[in-house]
Amino acid sequence: MKKPSSAGTSGPSAGRAPKGKAAAGAKAPAAAKKAAPPAPPAPQLAHLELEGRKLDLEVLTGTQGERVVDIGKLRKELGVAAFDPALASTAVCQSAITYVDGARGRLLLRGYPIEELAAHATFVEVAYLLVHGSLPTLEQRQRFSDLLNLHSMLHENMRNFFGNYPEGAHPMAVLSAMVVSLSSFYPEIKLDSTQEEIDITVTRLLSKLRTIAAFSYKKSIGEPFIDPSHKYTYCENFLNMMFRSPVSKYAASAEDVAILNKLLILHADHEQNASTTAVRMVGSTGANLYACISAGVCALWGPLHGGANQAVIEMLERIVREKIPVAEVLRRAKDKTDGFRLMGFGHRIYRTYDPRARIAREICTKLFRKRRITGPLGEVAMELEAAALADPYFQERHLYPNVDFYTGLIYRALGFPKEMFTVLFALGRLPGWIAHWQEMRADASQRIMRPRQHYVGPAQQPYVPISKRR
Ligand code: ACO
Repeated sequence: MKKPSSAGTSGPSAGRAPKGKAAAGAKAPAAAKKAAPPAPPAPQLAHLELEGRKLDLEVLTGTQGERVVDIGKLRKELGVAAFDPALASTAVCQSAITYVDGARGRLLLRGYPIEELAAHATFVEVAYLLVHGSLPTLEQRQRFSDLLNLHSMLHENMRNFFGNYPEGAHPMAVLSAMVVSLSSFYPEIKLDSTQEEIDITVTRLLSKLRTIAAFSYKKSIGEPFIDPSHKYTYCENFLNMMFRSPVSKYAASAEDVAILNKLLILHADHEQNASTTAVRMVGSTGANLYACISAGVCALWGPLHGGANQAVIEMLERIVREKIPVAEVLRRAKDKTDGFRLMGFGHRIYRTYDPRARIAREICTKLFRKRRITGPLGEVAMELEAAALADPYFQERHLYPNVDFYTGLIYRALGFPKEMFTVLFALGRLPGWIAHWQEMRADASQRIMRPRQHYVGPAQQPYVPISKRR
């Protein structure tokens, strides 16, 4: 593979115009025909040879200089498929939403560094940014907030669903079922839907997911639902629905609202992670937005993904309860015969400190200091982090804390039970999922996602009647 002439943004292979759509600037206006434009540099190629047949594969360079080899014609030309079971070396789509630089620990949403968004924006602004592609003006934010407010209530018949879940039902199970149920109450986005209809569906989902999340918590503790109110901002409303009760005078503090805004921003998007890929995979079949988001919620629930925030607290609680020395925790995490992993550590993309974890760590230490929160969980977390970062096993494998290592401690300090942590992650990730779903639908080259496999089962065997089976 040749080295790129430049890691610039505008070379001929900087991304690829979707099929059926003209690449920007493809047609020069007649007046500009006088001076012939310089010939575009030849596309960069990678070469593959199999059994004497050669294939040139185009190398595409993204706006941040990272390159991908387009293997789309591999099967057609050479009759073989690429084998990459965990998709570790596979880019599954072209996207203009989020960029993660795993080597340098950078995260950009629509080009904006996560640090700046977390410091200055609200979650509603970041949701708008992801879904609409640009930060809102004052008027746009007002309209978006008005829509979020208008669509925050749940259909009365949906409220009854909550009563039928058993005690102790995990709120992620309730959330996924409720989200897909929305499709039977509210209209879907169709290919010919107007922008107004799309905006309503998107804000309906962003707003109602918050109400569903709070109601599932109230149901789990046997308290009456607290309805959303036009008086509050997005995060304030959520805290109010979660923690107010008819017999308490709860009012969300400005500090709690600000922290929740920051945490939801940290979760807002992270390019092609497992849950976003689930949303795109289901979306590629033509399924409706609610069904796709429900698939995203289910994928997020797993402890190797968003479920890690609950798993981290459970791990810390166990270490404290059973008085397990930190050295023993690390020994088990390093032991390949032991299924235990250090939860909240490691990431497929980051080879350095996750920038979201850095922000979460700062929020956590400030909050604990300010509120004089002491206790073994925070102390053990700090001790574990320091010990792991100094350990050659973690150093050699570039294992650092990820976003889930500190967020659970913060959510806990704000009063959320651990079963709600992954629900909070889902609430934050929702605008990212929606943005990816929209991007996928707008891409004319999008086809149903249907991977190949490397079959290693029986070649063929004759059917054996049950009486003759051993
Ligand atoms: N504890 C101990 N060892 C680990 C850990 C860990 N948390 N994470 C990775 N490793 C080891 C692996 O055993 C492997 O070792 P080896 O090379 O000797 O076989 C090496 O580091 C590379 O790890 P992979 O499993 O190849 O990493 P992968 O990219 O497949 O997995 C994952 C990433 C799932 C995040 C993993 O690091 C992990 O399980 N972490 C704990 C769960 C977690 O915190 N998940 C949240 C991720 S962030 C998010 O989704 C929001």
